This record gives sequence, C-alpha cells and structure tokens, in this order.
Amino acid sequence: VFVHLLLYSSSNAQAFDTESQDVKRYQFPDNFLFGTATSSYQVEGGYLDDGKGLSNWDVFTHIPGKINNDENGDVADDDYHLFLEDIELAHSLGVNAYRFSISWARILPKGKFGEVNPNGIEFYNKIIDKLLLMGLEPFVTIFHFDYPQELDERYGSWLNPLIQEDFVLFAKTCFKSFGDRVKYWITINEPNVYADMAYIRGIYPPAHCSPPFGNCSVGNSDVEPLIVMHNLLLSHAKAAKLYRQEFQPEQGGNIGIVVNNHWYEPLRDEEVDHQAVKRALAFIGGGWALDPLVFGDYPPEMRQYHENALPRFSPEEAEYVKGSIDFIGLNHYSTLYAKDCIHSSCQSGGDHFIKGFAYTTGERDGIPIGEPTGVDRFYVVPRGMEKVIDYISKRYNNMPIYVTENGYSPPMPQTEQAPDLLHDVDRIKFHKTYLAALARAIRKGANVRGYFVWTLIDNFEWTGGYGTTFGLHYVDRQTLKRTPKLSATWYHDFLGNRSRAS
Ligand code: NOJ
Repeated sequence: VFVHLLLYSSSNAQAFDTESQDVKRYQFPDNFLFGTATSSYQVEGGYLDDGKGLSNWDVFTHIPGKINNDENGDVADDDYHLFLEDIELAHSLGVNAYRFSISWARILPKGKFGEVNPNGIEFYNKIIDKLLLMGLEPFVTIFHFDYPQELDERYGSWLNPLIQEDFVLFAKTCFKSFGDRVKYWITINEPNVYADMAYIRGIYPPAHCSPPFGNCSVGNSDVEPLIVMHNLLLSHAKAAKLYRQEFQPEQGGNIGIVVNNHWYEPLRDEEVDHQAVKRALAFIGGGWALDPLVFGDYPPEMRQYHENALPRFSPEEAEYVKGSIDFIGLNHYSTLYAKDCIHSSCQSGGDHFIKGFAYTTGERDGIPIGEPTGVDRFYVVPRGMEKVIDYISKRYNNMPIYVTENGYSPPMPQTEQAPDLLHDVDRIKFHKTYLAALARAIRKGANVRGYFVWTLIDNFEWTGGYGTTFGLHYVDRQTLKRTPKLSATWYHDFLGNRSRAS
C-alpha cells in the first residue's frame, strides 16, 4: 500500500527551506501519542442514515452560494460506511492514537427535544472497539462545529444560555456510553474559531456578522461572539464538572478543550504593535478561551477594552470554570502579523477582530510572512510552532499540551490532473519543519504529549469544500477510493524509525 509508482515532482522546491527539517522519532518521549485527526461532518456522510437528525451544516450547505462549488457533506468520505477501512489506514501509518468527533445529531437527533438514537451509539461503539483492537488510543471530540438544527430553531443555539443544558446532556450521553473505553475527551473544538467564523466573519452557520467585519444583515459582531464564547465555556465547564464528579473517579480519563492558536509577529517593530500581538493572542488566539478555564476569568487585556460587553462569570461559575481542563489541545497552522488599531488607523474589513483593537495580516509590504498555502491566512512559518508552544507553556503553568491538529493544504492545483495529490513533497516538508520546531520546544521544557496530523484523508473542508486538501490520503471523489500520498509513506517511516543514528 505504500508503493508509489510516480516519482517525486517538486513544484515548490524552495518552500520553507530556511528551517530545519532534521527531525527524528527519538526526539519525542517514548510514550508520546502520534495520530491523525478528523471530524464527523467532514468525513462521515450518511447524513440521513439510521435515524440521524439534521445538523446546522446539513442545512447550511444546501443553501446555494455558501460553499465552494456548492459542495456539501451529504456523502463526504462516506466514513459512516467505510470507518473500518479508515481505521486500518490510520493503523497502517504506525500511529498510536486517533482523533475523531461525535456527531451530536446522530446521537441526539433533536437535542434534548427528542430521544437518544441507539444507532448513533452503536456506530461510535464500533469505531471505539475497532480502535482499541488495533491498539489506537481514541481521542474524542464531543462538539466539532456540528449540532442539531433543532437547537437553532428552538432557541438560537449558542446565543442562548439554554444550550448549556443541551450540551451537558449530550456530553453525559457520551461519557455514559463510551467513557469506559475513551480516556481522552475534548469537549469543544476551537471555540475561538467557531465564534469568529459563525458570529464575526459570518461564513459558518448561522452566518451572523455585522459591518465592518462582514456583509451580513443578521448579527452584531460587537457582542454576539462574546456571548457565544461565554456559552461555549460554561457548557464546557458544566460538562467537565459532571465528568469529574460522576465519571472520572471510576473511568479515570482526562478532559480538555482544543483551541486554535496562530502565532503573531508585530507588523512594525514598534511598541504599539508588540501590544497588538499581545491582544491578538489574548482576544482571538487561545487566551479568550484558555484564561477562563485556567484562571477563572477572561484575559485582563480583554477586560480592559471591552468593559461591559464582555460577560462576567458569577463567583459560583468562576469556581468551576477555573481549573476545568486536564490538558490543552492546540491546533496550530499559521503565523500572521498583528498591527495596532487603537493608536493607528486600520483599514476596515474581515481581518479586524472584535471591535477592531488589532488588525492581522499575512503580508508586509506585499511580502508574505511565509509560504502561502491553499487556505486564506495560513502561511508556512514553522518557528511559529515553537513560539506558540513556548508561550502557552509559560502562560498556563506548563500544563500538558497535545497538538491536536497541524497540517498543510497546497494552493489549489491549476489543472485537473492528479493533483497535489500523490506527490506531496511540500506537505512532507511542512510536517518535518513543524515537528522539528515542536521538538525544540519540548527540549526547552514544554510538556507536550502528542501530535495529530490534520488529516487522515482529504475531506470536506467547510466553506472550502473538497478543493482544499489536507489529507495524508487522496480520496477519489467519484469512487471514494483512498490512496496514500507520499506524505503517508513519510509519516509511516518517521514513526517506524526509532534509531538515534542519523
Ligand atoms: C481546524 C478545524 O478543527 C478543522 O475542522 C479544519 O478542517 C482544519 N482546521 C483545517 O482548516
């Protein structure tokens, strides 16, 4: 399966050459978890099968004009039917962990307004059992952007505190059904990205935004993302509290959250831009979610600027929000420049975030900060990995960190011909240089315990549809046949070579 008939083609050979690619398995601890990651809506398909309810994404992707080429996840990679094959693909890479998410609408088709769907429970039971059989540690995300549409219709989902109770019911059903075998729980994937995309930029459902952040008629970007994050954090904290009281003592697992954290460099070497970097990290980086979960309140930088718009935790809430994670999950892809928007003027537009206190961009004087990729605002800057790990380790008292996602999607191919696709030397370089940077951070003392490649197979990349390809395996959109790319072979070889000789 690892034989490649075609030779290396190097379209972009000079990319990221300035960073070290010298990385070996032995530079990571023996018990380090190496895996791949996916999420339910992006791979499963089977969107109406066996009693599944409609999710927010099922509905949104059917609205013309929302997704690249009007694609959707109705079938996706059909992992709903091919999951055994997919787990074997992962296993053949030589990984020891597998990150996936549970579709809320498959388990509770109408949230708390309906019954548990036993077929949904059975599906994830089969996945978990197969993983354990193959010796792969399940890393399970409870909420990865998809929830029952019913919750939007009943009460406006994440804008309403009622969602907290619904989320706890879903999480409890997961702990009860799967917690005997799942030892790593992630309550929520990237709350900061979700709040941004769905309530600031308005490109993920329910697509709320307001000028200057986007061009929507629904929403208020000044306050809604702040309310949404508050509900996400309280949902997490209530689920974590329940887990710790009712399940953890017997099941003995770990519970955490995943944030996306870009690294930021000052656009100009001026104090105001260094301050903008701090605000970027605190506001839209991980701080917005992690500070409350570790310290019990939003970052001081946010309190200082938002005044009354930023919700408050009651003393009782702060008590259980604080310390509600056993580990930090970090999704890291990119580095951007940050520029001050308080003392200097900034152009308005989607690059601003929350009230325009800072502006982030991938370019300085027309020169990109790193090699551009197939995703807007994702640039290849491997040392950003080292810096962000360093920063998170220091800010959060050296808490255990899992890199729950890191990956590369090439610029869109110019032709229809076999694509990025199998000869993905740029992806290999990407992972080598990012892993080398991660190894440097570990050497300096960071408590990093795992690394997951995004992603096992090319899949539905949200608004990017199937044109954005992060996979170690190519998926033929007609036949859904999976084929390993060169990067799959590389990952396999990297993981298998434990010798210290160079
Ligand atoms: C983060 C998200 O968790 C995942 O769903 C997405 O596909 C990747 N980033 C790549 O953009």
